[in-house]
Amino acid sequence: MEQVHVSTHPLVRHKLTLLRDQKTEPKKFRELVREIAILLAYEATMDLALEPVTVTTPLGRAQGYTLREKIGLIPILRAGLGMANGIWEMMPSAEVWHIGLFRDERTLRPVEYYNKLPISPTVDVCLILDPMLATGGSAVATADILKRWGANRIKFIGIIAAPEGIQRLTTAHPDVPIYVAAIDERLNDSGFILPGLGDAGDRMFGTG
Ligand code: PRP
Repeated sequence: MEQVHVSTHPLVRHKLTLLRDQKTEPKKFRELVREIAILLAYEATMDLALEPVTVTTPLGRAQGYTLREKIGLIPILRAGLGMANGIWEMMPSAEVWHIGLFRDERTLRPVEYYNKLPISPTVDVCLILDPMLATGGSAVATADILKRWGANRIKFIGIIAAPEGIQRLTTAHPDVPIYVAAIDERLNDSGFILPGLGDAGDRMFGTG
């Protein structure tokens, strides 16, 4: 599947292993999510458009580049928040638009509770951030929201995906590339990714 990119970067693999470990405490967990998110965002933004510019150095003129596209970071609350800050430091002029969704534990369907997007789109490229792509319901709903908003370039950056979530997102939004650190075995009956890392939001915020 051309639209799915699983990182093979040794740093990502090393950090993901620490992240999965149940002994990893929330402080370390947050640091790892932040660091993996930066590494994945590096891979997901290789094709951003540039504008040539010249700059004056202390010794002369140099040809350089400036980013041509306005980037929007779209963390899905809550767990997506842990991915946003590090990426934002790498691209400080990005806009951050939060989407609040929680997964109904019984139906596993996403329920929207926060969305303050302005009427028309203000960015060229939207990066959806959510560490877990489980059934894919939250990611599909977010891409739906962004498309209704008028966004035409959307990418999904996650950390762990289940094959079920990959299937659902690629079917619903074949134009949305997916960048993850790993695709795991499957979902269990409660919709948790196996072997996964547990509940990312709870481990991040210490609420488990
Ligand atoms: C988790 C996770 C994703 C969603 C993935 O969030 O962070 O947003 O579930 O599941 P899906 O692919 O089946 O939609 P959760 O609903 O637990 O909310 P939280 O981030 O506030 O903990």
